[in-house]
Amino acid sequence: MAKLLVTGGAGFIGANFLQFWQQNNPDDIIVTLDALTYAGNKNNLASILNESWFTFVHGSICDQALVESLLLEHDIDTLVHFAAESHVDRSITGPDAFIETNIVGTHTLLKAAKKIWINENKKQHHLFHHVSTDEVYGTLAADDPAFNEDTPYAPNSPYAASKAASDHLVRSYHHTYGLRVTTSNCSNNYGPYQFPEKLLPLCMLNILSGKALPIYGDGTQIRDWLYVDDHNRGIELVIKKGRLGETYNVGGNNERANIDVVNLLCELFDSRFAADTELASRFPDSPCAKGISAKTLITYVTDRPGHDTRYAINATKIMNELGYAPVEDFNSGLNKTIDWYLNNESWWRSILDGSYQQ
Ligand SMILES: NC(=O)c1ccc[n+]([C@@H]2O[C@H](COP(=O)([O-])OP(=O)(O)OC[C@H]3O[C@@H](n4cnc5c(N)ncnc54)[C@H](O)[C@@H]3O)[C@@H](O)[C@H]2O)c1
Repeated sequence: MAKLLVTGGAGFIGANFLQFWQQNNPDDIIVTLDALTYAGNKNNLASILNESWFTFVHGSICDQALVESLLLEHDIDTLVHFAAESHVDRSITGPDAFIETNIVGTHTLLKAAKKIWINENKKQHHLFHHVSTDEVYGTLAADDPAFNEDTPYAPNSPYAASKAASDHLVRSYHHTYGLRVTTSNCSNNYGPYQFPEKLLPLCMLNILSGKALPIYGDGTQIRDWLYVDDHNRGIELVIKKGRLGETYNVGGNNERANIDVVNLLCELFDSRFAADTELASRFPDSPCAKGISAKTLITYVTDRPGHDTRYAINATKIMNELGYAPVEDFNSGLNKTIDWYLNNESWWRSILDGSYQQ
């Protein structure tokens, strides 16, 4: 039986991870530490908050004394670190929070883990798993090979730079102090509970309310999309079977231009409305309710400064070494995601009206 401390469990991937892990490892106990920033939402934990295996702690990863007390009090052996500032646009307008949470916060967790697990010798078989991003590798030209674990770091946004710094700190605590660490670097995720500032949920909700679908520049930037539980599947494998001190890229070999992703999403909504007349009465402001394609909402806007052209993940290492294989393809994953947003209207309405933080 493992005892996990999961940071950032009230965010998008963390919330999915908690449910994913518990289904596969029902005997484990999980404590989650989350500061409930704008991106953290206690409603994401509604289905598990009262479970005996679960404890929610409202607090910051920058609070070393709190982290040390949680490691001791709950006899934690595995720390899974999701907590971060994660939105590139926000890192451009306000980088300080990214430095504080992603760099100082990660370092604070490392110091706490080293103190309790190594200096006080409380857990020989501990693991610190760090969740990171493919954005640390920078950008690719159209014909460049996909990022592998040996691709040099070349972060281009303050978000990517702060994650790169945190990756280096995690690595250094392994090499210098012997902290048992693993790191995973994943491509763009999508799925339930994603905050509607990111491309897919933003476009879904805008289609339903008849608002513009903003596309940066000409929309040709390429991202490699992975369904969130396929990311969690990779993290679980790395935690259980990964080699200490190693990094593993997680991806689904699913490169798509942003404009193609939005066009596909529009087509899926057009078909949903055509097949289910109830949707037109639930969402009368959507063009789909009047038989007009959601594509009419697509609006090109000024590009993000320094916008990376292409990300692509080479996941050969995790596939060959740990037997990783994603389960969802893009159509099945998108349809699951659309189902979830249609079935959880009160969840996203409470974000749109701000009541989720009360
Ligand atoms: N979303 C993606 O596509 C993607 C892809 C690859 C890697 N990642 C990484 O995965 C992790 C999770 O991403 P996400 O999309 O779920 O992010 P998110 O923004 O949805 O959630 C972040 C969570 O961290 C919490 N948090 C922020 N600062 C904190 C602090 N100081 N102390 C405690 N909790 C704090 C927030 O309240 C929130 O619950 C991040 O580390 C991110 O870099 C994300």
